[in-house]
Amino acid sequence: MKWVTVSHLPQHEGETVELRGWVQNYRSSGKIQFIIFRDGTGVCQAVLFIKDVPPEVFEAGKRLTQESSIIIRGTVRKDDRAPGGYEIGVQELEIVQIAEEYPITPKEHGTEFLMDHRHLWVRSSRQAAILRIRNEITMAIHQFLQDRGFVLTESPILMGTAAEGGANLFETTYVNDEPAFLSQSGQLYVEATAMALGRVYTFGPTFRAEKSKTRRHLIEFWMVEPEAAYFTHEDNMKLQEEMVSYVVQRVLERRAADLKVLGRDTSMLEKVKPPFPRITYTEAVELLKKLHKPGDDWEPIPWGEDFGAPHETVLTQQFDKPVFVEKFPVKVKAFYMQPDPENPEVVLGADLLAPEGYGEIIGGSERIHDPELLKRRFEEHGLDMETYGWYYDLRRFGSVPHSGFGLGIERTVAWICGLEHVRETIPFPRLLNRLHP
Ligand code: 4AD
Ligand code: MG
Repeated sequence: MKWVTVSHLPQHEGETVELRGWVQNYRSSGKIQFIIFRDGTGVCQAVLFIKDVPPEVFEAGKRLTQESSIIIRGTVRKDDRAPGGYEIGVQELEIVQIAEEYPITPKEHGTEFLMDHRHLWVRSSRQAAILRIRNEITMAIHQFLQDRGFVLTESPILMGTAAEGGANLFETTYVNDEPAFLSQSGQLYVEATAMALGRVYTFGPTFRAEKSKTRRHLIEFWMVEPEAAYFTHEDNMKLQEEMVSYVVQRVLERRAADLKVLGRDTSMLEKVKPPFPRITYTEAVELLKKLHKPGDDWEPIPWGEDFGAPHETVLTQQFDKPVFVEKFPVKVKAFYMQPDPENPEVVLGADLLAPEGYGEIIGGSERIHDPELLKRRFEEHGLDMETYGWYYDLRRFGSVPHSGFGLGIERTVAWICGLEHVRETIPFPRLLNRLHP
């Protein structure tokens, strides 16, 4: 008999098949037992009818508990009333293990309880849907970049040089007792490989010891960082809007069932197509001043300060697509950003803010390619030639204008799935005060 997955049941209507999985829910009423069966690809209803199976199989069914592992064989019937739209008329039931009393019941549990049981919580339909969408997003990004000739060049996790600096740097000690840092970004390394291969990207975990508790910050998160030689700030934004649109449209196309499990209203996602609106930082500061009303739980910022999460939220609510905020003051951004030739007080860089209040999902810029200017920035930021000399070398040997960006996977998943908090966007989130499980 053929072992099939729940996701493929539509192709096997009327056939007798084998399914291997777990009991998500069980209920019995005398002559009939209903199993909500899951196998990781979806759920279906399995029905044990007293007349269809030998008495010992019917008796065995009565022992089933939530999360017991089972193999069933039976006929596939379409049934719109059944969860998942398909029903299996069970003929054979094989019990792999009767599960002990399962701690996560269909009733409501508090967040901390669920987070303590994350290793089991991932089995819920909702969490499984999120993880399948996350997988789709990751694969869509790879596909998009590969189709455009970007080469995956991995950057190290353990670094001798800090990419983004600041208070959230994770420091450790290397095997030879040198100070080492966990990667905050692979950018400096893809700038090097871009000079070798033209268009490249790195995709991996990054680490920031964020001391604040927010719904947008993880201590460990995944970032994709494309970098391209000869790309201008303009080329960079174009690549971003095309990539983000491709990813969103592909999720809508391929993961519609999962979005439905999440109850996601997809009308806003359908609008995510190029071009995206753009405003400058200066315009955004003015806009916030205009939008501010007495009693709001946020204050406008003076020119020169960075936005906080509430500012981003308010800004995104003014647009029905992701919006670029470009040309931030030099002082609020990283040392490597290229100043705008028309106004050297601001940089040729942009943040991309996701709509519906989600806020920043991408930070990107054109990079400084002039050796003298980079040297001045090193001095201003206290970066020494001994450590950063290799990065400076990229400006000594055939330096070219180049640009890149970093997209945070978890924030993108939170937005596309319509989630409150990034803790559900990654299998095992690392948060302030949460290193287990
Ligand atoms: O804006 P960031 O700090 O940019 C960089 O690291 C650049 N070096 C990227 C580049 O140009 N190659 O971070 C980029 C993105 C943010 O927009 C956000 O989506 C995500 O990374 N991010 C976080 N996501 C979750 N938790 C955190 N603590 C994050 N910090 C940044
Ligand atoms: Mg940023």
